[in-house]
Amino acid sequence: MSANGPTKSPERLLVTGAAGFIGSNLVHWILANRPNAKVVSLDALTYAGNLASLEDLRDHPRHRFVHGNICDDALVANLIDDGVDAIINLAAHTHVDRSLMDGDEFVTTNVGGVRVFADAVKQHPEIRFLHVSTDEVYGSQGPDEVATESAPITPNNPYSAAKAGGDLLALAYQRSFDLDILISRCGNNYGPYQYPEKMIPLFVTNLIDGHKVPLYGDGLNIREWIHVEDHCAALVSILERGRAGEVYNITSGEGLTNVYLTESILEIVGRDKSFIEYVDDRPGHDRRYAIDSAKLRNELGWEPTFQFDDGLRKTVQWYRDNEAWWRPIKSGEYRDYYKRQYEAGTKS
Ligand code: NAD
Ligand code: DAU
Repeated sequence: MSANGPTKSPERLLVTGAAGFIGSNLVHWILANRPNAKVVSLDALTYAGNLASLEDLRDHPRHRFVHGNICDDALVANLIDDGVDAIINLAAHTHVDRSLMDGDEFVTTNVGGVRVFADAVKQHPEIRFLHVSTDEVYGSQGPDEVATESAPITPNNPYSAAKAGGDLLALAYQRSFDLDILISRCGNNYGPYQYPEKMIPLFVTNLIDGHKVPLYGDGLNIREWIHVEDHCAALVSILERGRAGEVYNITSGEGLTNVYLTESILEIVGRDKSFIEYVDDRPGHDRRYAIDSAKLRNELGWEPTFQFDDGLRKTVQWYRDNEAWWRPIKSGEYRDYYKRQYEAGTKS
């Protein structure tokens, strides 16, 4: 691959975090849309990793699952020795609320894991390394602000600070050693296989079961929501045609308040507003994320395909149709906000 990007689609892919939400969707997307691609899925199977999300690929001739930790240099070196053209790193600790309880594994994986891949591609500069990051690294935006790729990095919680650390490390290795490393930063994803501690699957599954939904603070925080399949298509565009050393923002541009989103979910599931329970705010809760994806759209021709209302309806239907996926995951811990907060020691 040249510094200006690969000349053809990489065929031997290592996808990390593949039994998580976006990773499992990405592996399905690649196998369905790139008939020559062979995928090795690497995941440590933390609480958020679920092999049920890859169950239909168990005997797929172009897919192999490896249970392991991205912080394991020897394991990563062995996988690379087997033959890898490109690595897409999605493995991370991802839930902001958990990072506020204990930041340890966030730093270990979200920074330390990136170091492992940066050193690995330093030994193998022919490998393209796409590191998947988040709009949260830009921090909260004012009412009229929109972050481009050159906006300041000002994260406000341990999760996003660790992601920012990983980004900076990856970019430093790229510049120091002229490596084929690039970064994507996306807004909030929704869709199938999302762990039911994140807002949309938590609220949908609570409401299906007739439980209330805990809305933080005044509910007026704004997030930009993108369907996970649109994110996957963007990642493959960046992998195939992005320029080394560059950052690409990915967004639908659909910024919604949490109240609007909650009322949309209530309407689809068929519950009234009495199911909203306003609870204490998340500490350091970023008010608004808003990013500009003109670079991705203009350079690589990517456009989102899902319209939010339709995507949300399909997502709610998926959770209705796939109770066998989420019921075993969802314990009282996730239904009961107060118990969760009590255990975290953030409430008296
Ligand atoms: P997720 O929590 O659903 O999945 C993360 C996966 O990483 C899990 O399967 C987990 O087992 C695995 N993992 C964690 N630590 C590991 C380690 N040390 N070694 C190997 N595997 C490990 O997360 P997600 O929502 O699918 O997010 C995937 C990536 O996309 C993350 O890097 C996240 O920062 C980024 N991202 C997510 C969103 C979003 O809205 N969900 C938006 C932008 C960027
Ligand atoms: O912006 C991208 C980020 O989106 C990703 O980098 C993260 O990995 C991902 O978890 C997500 O972070 P958020 O904190 O935005 O997502 P979450 O689903 O936790 O919360 C979405 C919004 O809903 C946020 O403003 C907090 C609020 N919320 C969340 C939960 C879980 C509630 O009001 N109640 C809740 O119970």
